[in-house]
Amino acid sequence: LRFASSFKAADLVIERNTACKPKPDPSTLVFGKQFSDHMLTINWSEKGGWEAPQIKPFQNLSLHPASSALHYSIELFEGMKAFRGVDNHLFNKDELLECIRKLVEVDHEWVPAAQDTSLYIRPTFIGIEPSLGVSRAGHAMIFVIIGPVGPYFATGSFNPVSLLADPSFVRAWKGGVGAYKMGGNYGPTIAVQNEAVKRGCQQVLWLYGEQEEITEVGTMNLFIYWTNDKGERELFTPPLDGMILPGVTRQSLLDLARTWGEFKVAERTMGMKELLGALDAGRVLEVFGAGTACVVCPVGSLLYRGKKYQIPTMQNGPDLAKRFHKELTDIQYGRKPSEWAPLV
Ligand code: COI
Repeated sequence: LRFASSFKAADLVIERNTACKPKPDPSTLVFGKQFSDHMLTINWSEKGGWEAPQIKPFQNLSLHPASSALHYSIELFEGMKAFRGVDNHLFNKDELLECIRKLVEVDHEWVPAAQDTSLYIRPTFIGIEPSLGVSRAGHAMIFVIIGPVGPYFATGSFNPVSLLADPSFVRAWKGGVGAYKMGGNYGPTIAVQNEAVKRGCQQVLWLYGEQEEITEVGTMNLFIYWTNDKGERELFTPPLDGMILPGVTRQSLLDLARTWGEFKVAERTMGMKELLGALDAGRVLEVFGAGTACVVCPVGSLLYRGKKYQIPTMQNGPDLAKRFHKELTDIQYGRKPSEWAPLV
């Protein structure tokens, strides 16, 4: 999305909430159920351009019932986190990031301090053109809501999840919009997710095409650590071919592994047949997901065409998944200095 102009963080208007809520007990936090006292909104229209950003008390949105986001899913979102560092430091960049930083600063008491908790940040962009014509929205709004979260999966942090891999369900395709964080990519997956739960699995591993290529899990990118055909230790994740979400946690794991230089790191496709062959031959060591919400999450089994395949991730430590988890969380909580986490 390109706009001729931008808003300025320097124009930010702050209206303080005079009825702040009590903060929840951090040890009871789940994902995405609690919200802080303030939110950020920035309105845009074709005619007037960007209005000044506003931080105001957390409140319901008032939208025209014909708003394009409500009818045609003209919506995009992002997922970010702010962490309370071991030294109590909270994060940095551009105009929107500066407004978000300001919002976190206003609600800094909402950044929880318990282990595996953080302040989840949900920037959202919606078309609010009051018209039923299927066309580009001439009015839009960015809003950012934030709230304290615990582990994404109800099973807790670092417990292995089971995946349903069923080629009859398709999440994304070549030439489509699977690589974007559009609400329209998530809503249609919920019925399939329910089907996975009915079949005793927690998440869906989305497959694509005749080769039944493994793609991603929808809430996380997928990584496989194995011994490849040349007998080399290799970590790989599917490539950014337009169907895969380019998650920052995905990129962080690739960057970390490349810096270590201890094993091969690849972005490649793999079909189910090849994966099952490698599993059968004992060449698969660890399978895990990576994402902002879930961080690093081991995969313990796969249900495919009615058969459950055990994946030895936990039996293998999982040494690599644990190392990634520790390295990332050490950076996130400021236990380890990193150029990725400038502190403010
Ligand atoms: C995230 O990892 O931040 C996500 O947005 C995934 C999910 C909660 C939709």
